[in-house]
Amino acid sequence: MVREWDPRTASSAEISSLLDCLNQVFRTDLPGDPLWRPHFLREYLTETMPGVRRICWLAEQPDAGGGTEVVGHVNVLLLGDIGVLEILVRPDVRRTGLGRQLLALAVRRAYHEGFSSVGVEVIGDTCAVEFYESFGFARQFREIRSVLRLASVDWAAIEKMAQDAVSGYEVEFHPGGPPDDLVEAYARTKAEQSDPADGDLDLRPSSYDPERLRESLACLHRRGMTPYIVLARHSASGEVAGLTEVVVPAQHPTRADQYDTIVAQAHQGRGIDRAIKARMLLELRSVEPALTEVQTWNAEGDEEIIGINTEIGYRSDRDWWDYGADIPMLMHRLGVGN
Ligand SMILES: CC(C)(COP(=O)(O)OP(=O)(O)OC[C@H]1O[C@@H](n2cnc3c(N)ncnc32)[C@H](O)[C@@H]1OP(=O)(O)O)[C@@H](O)C(=O)NCCC(=O)NCCS
Repeated sequence: MVREWDPRTASSAEISSLLDCLNQVFRTDLPGDPLWRPHFLREYLTETMPGVRRICWLAEQPDAGGGTEVVGHVNVLLLGDIGVLEILVRPDVRRTGLGRQLLALAVRRAYHEGFSSVGVEVIGDTCAVEFYESFGFARQFREIRSVLRLASVDWAAIEKMAQDAVSGYEVEFHPGGPPDDLVEAYARTKAEQSDPADGDLDLRPSSYDPERLRESLACLHRRGMTPYIVLARHSASGEVAGLTEVVVPAQHPTRADQYDTIVAQAHQGRGIDRAIKARMLLELRSVEPALTEVQTWNAEGDEEIIGINTEIGYRSDRDWWDYGADIPMLMHRLGVGN
């Protein structure tokens, strides 16, 4: 049985059964990844970044105890001019047409909400590649995920990298996000990197307007994701010359996500990126003692940042693809009527 589902009003039993389904998917598709915990799962599903709406469906079947259990889930995030899909089917019920049914529901709804295309993040070396390609989704953008195991880090080298901080800049650590008086300068530096043509679906808080950035940070906190920021401030002008962002999610607090590292054009070539990334790791080691790994995603060709990550000890792990498809084509292939 598949039904539209609102995580805001869902019972704790439903949330916990969804978590169980999600972790079975992780064990099969991403066996090296940490399993998710129940903490903030409801908020993770409920809270969205400014301007984004989420619509969810749940697939259930009877369980051994006379109740029901979750065997599949789909949600579509409606943002800007695209609907972004996430579909999960429990491994023991795959290849029975459930994935197709969930895809058809989300695509039909996106069509009725006025959208003409959908996108999805597809993890390399999983059956999701064959699934989406079988419906005509096309590859649009490739990123490579890398993982840093903190136990293998050469901390003496990291301390040295952090101390190589360049003269004329102050490096600051801000747990929780940039202080309010720096949000505007911070947003300006983030805006420098924004490249709407790069094709990345980018579901992170890509907020270059100070007000939206504040809202995005508040949303991260509500979702149980604690942001940490290291900034390099240009002493002479007070500008944010460089920044790096890491988030520790309550759902998998042993593995943090490294988000953006940006150095403003006028300040590039001075080693600021190395210094701020190294400082971040030193700070995380003391404020998040349970942390064992950090993961990050880099676009192909982003050689400078990939070089620094390799020097720090990140090892590439998998391809992470953005796929896209036109809704009218999908509706035709799925045999979905208006
Ligand atoms: C991708 C996924 C949703 C597919 O669900 P499903 O219920 O098995 O899909 P369907 O049964 O509807 O398959 C539809 C078609 O997709 C293709 N397909 C699906 N899985 C495939 C596989 N393993 N190999 C080849 N083709 C496959 C086939 O063409 C299939 O049609 P067929 O069975 O008639 O040949 C499911 O495998 C899944 O949840 N994967 C995990 C996704 C993920 O993101 N994991 C990592 C994050 S934790």
